[in-house]
Amino acid sequence: MPSDHALREFIPPYPPRHTRAATLIENIRRFRQSMIDVWMVGHFSSEMFRSRILRRDVIVCNSPETVREAFVDRADVLERKSPQQRWALEPLLGDGLFISEGATWRARRRAVAPVTHASRMRELAPVMTEVAAEWHAAWAAQPEGASLDVLEEMARMTAEVICRTLFGRQLGRESAETVVHAFTAYQARVGQTALAAMLGLPDWLKRLEAFRMRPEARRIHQVLDRLIADVLHKQDPKEASLVRALSALQAMEPWALRNEAATLFMAGHETTANTLAWAWFLLSGAPWAAERLRAEARSVLGGRPAAFEDVEALPYTRAVIEETLRLYPPVPVLAREAMADTTIRGEPVAKGSLVLVVPWLLHRNPRLWDRPDHFLPERFLEGSPPRYGYVPFSIGPRVCTGQQFGLTEAVICLATLAQSFALTLEPGHIVRPVSRLTLRPGERLPMRLCHLDR
Ligand code: HEM
Repeated sequence: MPSDHALREFIPPYPPRHTRAATLIENIRRFRQSMIDVWMVGHFSSEMFRSRILRRDVIVCNSPETVREAFVDRADVLERKSPQQRWALEPLLGDGLFISEGATWRARRRAVAPVTHASRMRELAPVMTEVAAEWHAAWAAQPEGASLDVLEEMARMTAEVICRTLFGRQLGRESAETVVHAFTAYQARVGQTALAAMLGLPDWLKRLEAFRMRPEARRIHQVLDRLIADVLHKQDPKEASLVRALSALQAMEPWALRNEAATLFMAGHETTANTLAWAWFLLSGAPWAAERLRAEARSVLGGRPAAFEDVEALPYTRAVIEETLRLYPPVPVLAREAMADTTIRGEPVAKGSLVLVVPWLLHRNPRLWDRPDHFLPERFLEGSPPRYGYVPFSIGPRVCTGQQFGLTEAVICLATLAQSFALTLEPGHIVRPVSRLTLRPGERLPMRLCHLDR
């Protein structure tokens, strides 16, 4: 018989960690495959390291001190996103908050941050509860053992939440599918190009790629322009929506409003979807954690969907989400381009260098975490994570504005569904974490549905 301790051990999958330095070609090939496949064993515990890739210095900050220094103390010099990100996203987001900088970024941040702020969660959460309840009903109608692609299920669910939040309940419900279709085509194109791969491309090829993405971007713009016009001119002004809140707060040009709507959809949908998909996978490998989460959800909710007021009473559910974000941060690499010469820990960082904070490494740094590769949600109940050592939402002035939104949504959706359903991995399916844009459990996550109430 395995001991109780052994039964509670779960080390979810991660790519092999290399022990010998790879050639440049090998590294570029690995990076193209997945941004988390290149790291060597020593990188996880290293404070800071650098390399030179195709005439560009790349500096990785991997300790609380270096992360703080780069993303907080030097934020003014390091506020610019990497050229790879800007080339890939500019056709879609224009000057949207996610990739803008300087005065434009500051103005947009002042407009967008308040509408998704923690203080507005009470107002925004009812849509999350409503969508979670709809998914609960849809899963309840499925037969025992039904096969679901959980990655796709979670992506559709979070797209519903963000569309209804952005455009209002009615319009959001009607348009979610169209918006998702439009974005999926664009993201697939960026995915093929792979941001990481662009590191190795000459500038003219990167510009050509960006140019090729314009028709897909235009299609999305047409969809969003129509929706925004409907929100502003046709919809009942009493219908709450982020687009209306944004336009009321600041006189924004229609195209600026569209760029921010595109930014919020893109930034808020896949990240939360991946978090939830990974959480289901982790719970399927850790039955003791699934049991504790279910017991908590049942005792607080008693079968009804979770609401904003319940979130505080669901600390274990939140710990599961936080541990999921540690092990599988949806944005596993945060990149900045130095806009001027600077230093980090006294080491020179030349203008044009890439400075990276890699949550994938930092969250598994053995100097910061006990048993870093284990799934142990309890660690988030026992104490706070290391300051500047846990950054799934980034850190500093460019920290995610949707942090509370994403966390609240994930807790509400997971608790609502987990009280009635368990998911087990489809036999024979092997999960391999892959990161092109965001970190996903492969292209699909086939799982079987188990009804706990029957
Ligand atoms: C679990 C869910 C989420 C995760 C893990 C996440 C993660 C992140 C990260 C890491 C960044 C910074 C990227 C960088 O520094 O290069 C970011 C930025 C951003 N996120 Fe999120 N996000 C989540 C959900 C959301 C949601 C729900 C929204 C909106 C409702 C949102 C809106 C934004 C925006 C607007 C930015 C750009 C901020 C700026 O540059 O000033 N995110 N997010």
